[in-house]
Amino acid sequence: PAGVGKSSIARILARDLGLAYLDTGAMYRTLGLRLDDVALDGDEAGRQDVMRDLHFQLSGQGDDSHLTLNGAPVGEEIRSEEVAARASRLAVLPDVRNFLQSAQQRIGRNTSLVCEGRDMGTKVFPDARHKFFLDAAHEVRAQRRFLQLQAQGRPADFKLILSQILARDEQDRNRPVDPLRPAPDAIIVDTGPLDMAGVVAAIKAHLKV
Ligand code: DC
Repeated sequence: PAGVGKSSIARILARDLGLAYLDTGAMYRTLGLRLDDVALDGDEAGRQDVMRDLHFQLSGQGDDSHLTLNGAPVGEEIRSEEVAARASRLAVLPDVRNFLQSAQQRIGRNTSLVCEGRDMGTKVFPDARHKFFLDAAHEVRAQRRFLQLQAQGRPADFKLILSQILARDEQDRNRPVDPLRPAPDAIIVDTGPLDMAGVVAAIKAHLKV
């Protein structure tokens, strides 16, 4: 779920293991920026027209992994809560999920990956060698996001962040298609009592590296 530290953890693991890192949330966010409200709110034909011309690619590995859309790097403009909320809205649409899941599987066919996203273990890579589901209480996740924003010198309101996390969880867990949930064979890691290094160590213990 949101704010659990999955991007940071996945990035560190990719670096340490020398594998490419795929942030699938970044793909939903990028699409959230590309699709206007009309396309987002139900015009499937319009959406298909836009998506037909969109091509994601992943190159490099570890810290040097680069996700591009039509050759242009996916950048920091996708990191706002507004874009996250658009991504979450669009993530309920089956045609959008099919489009992005196919792109992810295509990337995974050619490359060994550490990938991160709500449906990785359940849907996109059901045969992945290792699956981990990171979790933590709402308040812990909101507090982490709050500190992260503060450290970046950006406006941070704890109550607002908590309500945004609750709303996004609600939407992601209860959508009919590919809801956020652990795969039956995923190892669940409660990140609440652990710092980043602790989570990475807990995961590596299962990888035997
Ligand atoms: O991980 P994130 O916060 O960057 O993801 C943004 C939104 O995208 C999230 O609210 C739900 C959606 N998403 C998804 O449905 N499936 C994924 N594999 C990744 C993200």
